[in-house]
Amino acid sequence: MTYPIPRLPVLDWATFSGTKLSAIPCLLTHPETEFTNSGRASILLALEMLGIGPGDKVLVPTYHCPTMIAPIVARGAQAVFYPLDGNGAPKMDWITQEDTRGVRALLVAHFFGLPQPLAGVRQWCDQQGVRLIEDCAHALFGASDDRAIGCWGDLAIASLTKFLPVPEGGCLVNNTVPGVSPMLHRPDATNQVKAGFDIVHCGVNHGRLKGLGPLVRGLFRFLGMFKKKNLHHDRPADPSPTDGFTIDIAQSHQALTHASRWIAQHAPRDRIVARRRENYNFFAHALSGQAGLHPLRSSLPDSCAPYVFPLWVDQPDPGYAELRRLGFPVSRWDRLWPTVATIEGDCGIKWSHHILQLACHQDLTLKELQQMVDTLKQIYAPNETS
Ligand SMILES: Cc1ncc(COP(=O)(O)O)c(C=O)c1O
Repeated sequence: MTYPIPRLPVLDWATFSGTKLSAIPCLLTHPETEFTNSGRASILLALEMLGIGPGDKVLVPTYHCPTMIAPIVARGAQAVFYPLDGNGAPKMDWITQEDTRGVRALLVAHFFGLPQPLAGVRQWCDQQGVRLIEDCAHALFGASDDRAIGCWGDLAIASLTKFLPVPEGGCLVNNTVPGVSPMLHRPDATNQVKAGFDIVHCGVNHGRLKGLGPLVRGLFRFLGMFKKKNLHHDRPADPSPTDGFTIDIAQSHQALTHASRWIAQHAPRDRIVARRRENYNFFAHALSGQAGLHPLRSSLPDSCAPYVFPLWVDQPDPGYAELRRLGFPVSRWDRLWPTVATIEGDCGIKWSHHILQLACHQDLTLKELQQMVDTLKQIYAPNETS
């Protein structure tokens, strides 16, 4: 039996192995962390807590996925796109020359889980009275400029599904907005139970949790519960055109289910960091020196656990469509917000075409990693593979 390579972490027996705490900082240990339903929900809640709404502007990067922008638009505020330099940092020279009237917040992301130095951005925000929303959706672990991830922003957000085998989940960290916390209500009993089943089912569907498969499949056949429902990890390779461009306001105010919260609090973290770093280095080695593609960054900073391996491909199409058709665990941020601007010297728009985000999470096996490298070489360098 062959199983699809999981794009995101999946539950396996190994999920509970190893040392609980990671050697590098983890946003989950931050005393002000609140669990939420998703990363996008956390952005929405952050905007609510800051009272950002109609007439306000929020600075956002040209390299983005729609889920980062939809909460801003849902609040009735305006997303103003800023350019990025070659390291994915905001181009502060551009930002400082902009008319900042009406700008209430700046959203900055640690793309791919590679920590961005944020001292300069923080200083600019303080000088201008602009709130900093630190988007740690790709970076649950790490530090930048000697400060732990999630400690730079007035508020910081994270996304649990990218680092843990859970079907939903996010975090919201409140560093400097006194006396305000997000308005959340409890998921109903059906959602609580579904989340637990979803976690186990997803592991089994990817050939993990050896020994449990027949039992779980039998149970699901009996219940017939999830027959037509797409599980989080089994979403179709190609999202619908509107996916991520809108946000479910009611769901965004739902607290995290018990099952996902339990995994977030109890899954040992050391293994997550170590395996992700190993997998990143595996790709960096295997994919360097190939004509037409190169790792965006071949060496990892010490204090980080990457979300994905960013691979620059000179001519990504039509290969990318073929990768998606094959169910290869990759994504590309090519569905841009319609109002995104073309700005001279910006790297963000180029990234949205050329950067493929390869899964490098802790639950990939060596065989799967090798299979991924072979497939990439077959698609992008067929003449070099015999
Ligand atoms: C940088 C960034 N921020 C926020 C989000 C939203 O996270 P979630 O998918 O948990 O809603 C994503 C999702 O891909 C993201 O990549």
